[in-house]
Amino acid sequence: MKKGNGGEKMTQDTTVLLDERRIFKPSKEIIERAHIKDWEAEIEKGKDIEKYWAEKAEQFEWFKKYDKVLDDSNKPFYKWFVNGKINLAYNAVDRWIHTEKRNQVAILYVNERGHEKKITYYELYREVNKLANAFKNLGVKKGDKVSTYLPMCPELIITLLACTKIGAIHSVVYSGLSVGAFVDRVNDAEAKVILTADGTYRRGKIIDLKKISDEAVLRCPTVETIVVVNHTGSKIEISELSGREIFYDRLIEGEPVECEPEHMDAEDPLFILYTSGSTGKPKGVLHTTAGYMVGVATTLRNVFDIQDDDLWWCTGDIGWITGHSYVLYGPLLLGTTTVVYEGAPDYPDPGVWWNIVERYGVTKFYTAPTAIRHLMRFGNRYPNIYDLSSLKILGTVGEPINPEAWVWYYKNIGKEKTPIMDTWWQTETGMHLISPLPSAPLKPGSATKPLPGIDADVVDVDGKPVPMGKGGLLVIKTPWPAMFRTLYKDEQRYMDVYWTDVPGGVYSAGDMARKDEDGYFWIQGRSDDVLKIAGHRVGTSEVESAFVSHPAVAEAAVIGKSDPIKGEVIKAFLILKEGKKLDTNLIEELSRHVRYELGPVAVLGEMEQVEKLPKTRSGKIMRRILRAKEEGKDLGDTSTLEE
Ligand code: PRX
Repeated sequence: MKKGNGGEKMTQDTTVLLDERRIFKPSKEIIERAHIKDWEAEIEKGKDIEKYWAEKAEQFEWFKKYDKVLDDSNKPFYKWFVNGKINLAYNAVDRWIHTEKRNQVAILYVNERGHEKKITYYELYREVNKLANAFKNLGVKKGDKVSTYLPMCPELIITLLACTKIGAIHSVVYSGLSVGAFVDRVNDAEAKVILTADGTYRRGKIIDLKKISDEAVLRCPTVETIVVVNHTGSKIEISELSGREIFYDRLIEGEPVECEPEHMDAEDPLFILYTSGSTGKPKGVLHTTAGYMVGVATTLRNVFDIQDDDLWWCTGDIGWITGHSYVLYGPLLLGTTTVVYEGAPDYPDPGVWWNIVERYGVTKFYTAPTAIRHLMRFGNRYPNIYDLSSLKILGTVGEPINPEAWVWYYKNIGKEKTPIMDTWWQTETGMHLISPLPSAPLKPGSATKPLPGIDADVVDVDGKPVPMGKGGLLVIKTPWPAMFRTLYKDEQRYMDVYWTDVPGGVYSAGDMARKDEDGYFWIQGRSDDVLKIAGHRVGTSEVESAFVSHPAVAEAAVIGKSDPIKGEVIKAFLILKEGKKLDTNLIEELSRHVRYELGPVAVLGEMEQVEKLPKTRSGKIMRRILRAKEEGKDLGDTSTLEE
């Protein structure tokens, strides 16, 4: 039952430019439909940054209008929409219930078992208010922190919106992380309340989240209340709950369905989201209210050309920034319907996503290159079973997409009609920064150009622009509204990691990139010790400390090893304690141990026992040398190597 996508094909211009490089031009139909019909003209418009973003702030209802668009008097601690008063949840939910969207589905939850739940804007409004009131009863006040360890489920969305309604700061712990990562994050955030669930569906199994959470909270002294969502119906009895635990359903029972939104200052903190950096301690990336709202709503609307009849699906987990910005906040701020999927991309079979696209008529679809590469392995058999003709625009995020995967996605999912938005951004940036718009000519593997209102460049260590085609450091030269404002409780690290590396007061993204003759950006990967495993950021030192916390390991150094599907996996070099040998038993035990500490995101490729590790005189491990050796490359400059 293969049907082609309706509409006109994009034109493919195969002129060879620098290397062999294809250009895919948008069809007339796509341009005609788009909010922004002229990409270059919009980029020009965006050059007056303050004017551009002020215009975008008009879309919201403010309790009090701001006095000033941007305050840059205390760089790099920028402020946006100074003295404005606004509430995100009010704009994402309440605002719509007085419009024709009142009974429109806001959240379309579906899981790998095919179970679905549809929640309209009006229903969402009531649920958010009930929980917001219940939070108040628990003593949660503006500025208090609430952490979640929940699967992709409606209650997670309701929780985050309830927090923003009353001004509590949320901090989501990805449900694929494990005890060690959970404890670090919840303690750093000093969370007062935690929400967890009995379990989550994954590849036909139910993963017991409560068990992990139970173990973790023993080491989290600030937590006063643990709210348990009965998600998989695994029948936990009330008698099994401890004194500080309560079921979600019971908590909201009888709560009023109205709740006044807190009038938040534009710069009041909205959420903390932890991400890996070059040292062992995860970084608490802090986002604030109004600028974040303006940034995510604008980029989603423009990049994916969100229209009233769209059905939007971003497969990212709310445990990461992609889910915060583009599963939850962006779509609801635009009043669109957002698909929330819980499960794996290949269970019960690798057609599960395409089945959902067909069943509901998804129009805009956003996923990660690693998922595309994984599904690509099964060929075009599965995409061909389903009618994918509803799709209008596709997108990717999280890591560079190799042209082969881009073209597979384009041909087999988009049927050569849908442009692909390769969006470059980060937890820190909050919103897309480098990405095409649907009216842009595309080159597979390039995120194209900085978005309107964004000024990016590729420079050398002295901050000088590098010549065309040469690799360098990716920097953002002017502030943008959804930028993070600091690292929670660590302003010094905020300065050191992002703002002092490159001279000139620019934001240093930690990525390598090059620009081509058309000014297109080609992102080449991280310039620091952060791995990208299946699009997730994993810090080498976090993995190393997980290894050395095992009694058999004396020292560890890890590097990323390229992997055809995950992009990178971990290769570990281990110095073992006296008399220990890295046999199959120990390998298994260490795998289990690291997984226990960090969760399944830390995908282990290989382990190798070594006698010594390459170090500088000051004792820093030179991972660069290990990488070069592993890849059989020249060791480069070894003058700082001790031995
Ligand atoms: O290296 C870049 C890569 O992902 C990093 C940010 O990771 P994270 O904060 O976890 O956020 C991922 C989702 C926004 C970047 O520093 N990255 C992200 N998108 C792309 C990318 N690399 C190349 N192309 C992209 N489109």
